[in-house]
Amino acid sequence: MNVVLGISGGIAAYKAPDLVRRLRERGADVQIVTTASAEEFVTSTALQAVSGRPIRSNLWDKEAEAAMSHIELARWADVVLIAPATAEVMARIVSGGAPDLLTTICLATEAPIALAPAMNHVMWSNQATQANRDVLEKRGIHILGPGIGSQACGETGAGRMLEPDAIAAAVFSLTGAQIDGLLKGRKVVITAGPTREAIDPVRYITNRSSGKMGYAIASAAAAQGADVVLISGPVNLAEPPGIEVIKVESAQQMYEATHNVIRDADIFIAAAAVADYRPASVVAQKIKKKDEAMRLELVRCPDILASVAALPTAPFTVGFAAETDKVIEYARGKLEKKKLDLIIANRVGDNCGFDRDDNTATALWQNGEQSFPTCSKSDLARELIELVAQHFYAVRSADT
Ligand code: C5P
Repeated sequence: MNVVLGISGGIAAYKAPDLVRRLRERGADVQIVTTASAEEFVTSTALQAVSGRPIRSNLWDKEAEAAMSHIELARWADVVLIAPATAEVMARIVSGGAPDLLTTICLATEAPIALAPAMNHVMWSNQATQANRDVLEKRGIHILGPGIGSQACGETGAGRMLEPDAIAAAVFSLTGAQIDGLLKGRKVVITAGPTREAIDPVRYITNRSSGKMGYAIASAAAAQGADVVLISGPVNLAEPPGIEVIKVESAQQMYEATHNVIRDADIFIAAAAVADYRPASVVAQKIKKKDEAMRLELVRCPDILASVAALPTAPFTVGFAAETDKVIEYARGKLEKKKLDLIIANRVGDNCGFDRDDNTATALWQNGEQSFPTCSKSDLARELIELVAQHFYAVRSADT
């Protein structure tokens, strides 16, 4: 897929090199077009290094125009993406003017156009910007985000540029382009998040899992071209673009949803924190308090991971071992007991593991292991998916 990536002058432009990498790892060719103010935030040297192509910015650059004119560039694009898109560039596109190379390409292209706005939250909520957003959407331009959160100006609100990985995923998803990655054409089923085991109509047993690791793994697998089915317990996370998400609550529902889709899967990754026990029966009415103490009888939940690994034609099966102590020893025990191809061990509790944005992990397999230093869950997910793909193909070639 040919992407014309327009970069306009907002502080989020510092994320542009990462966005280029996320687009290129999915197989895109990226031609960067900067506005004059973008160059205040990110150097053309950095952008040229990551994109592998000279940067275009000037409509009147005779040499560049001779090589590929702005009209040819507009035709070359399968999609025009502007990230970050400032309030100013949005307004310029709405006006229909073409004072610079980027807006000229927007007028001259027949390819879909996507904008990832990034600006101070007051600028974003300003009536003028909102009216411009409305016009752009009515014209069929895709608006990606913005996200809500802390901003470079020190304030908090709506106006943050979406993360580069989410933008790259959204662009591939909206164009329907095939991602050319390590897992192209492979079906990967992933469980994520906690489960909820009902006690009565208003109460349940659950755990501290946020689902962040499983969702990051799902995005990383999709970024490598996999067809991902994400079976998710209750979480507070946005559905990743281009991924089929099946929402469940209980361990039993997660078990059934998994077995409904697992038959033709190549890889199964169990990142969910599934309850080991659930109440023996769900009380129909809300339980009233009576005595000083009460007993709750619990029974075992089905072990989804072990049940998939035991299938006669099991996919390549990856488990997680979240432990508070003896992390590696317990994980190796699980690898063998559950007959897994790979297990990812990580420490939880005491400010690590659950409900955080970073993680530390060790991957273990029958004859080896590899440790990953602490990094963001999305970086870790990318590395884990590469490792999973490498082992998956090694096992398959040994089988044939
Ligand atoms: O045995 P333990 O629960 O510690 O194993 C953790 C691994 O097993 C994780 O990959 C988790 O997703 C999976 N699991 C499961 N079904 C359960 C319990 C755990 O799939 N009922």
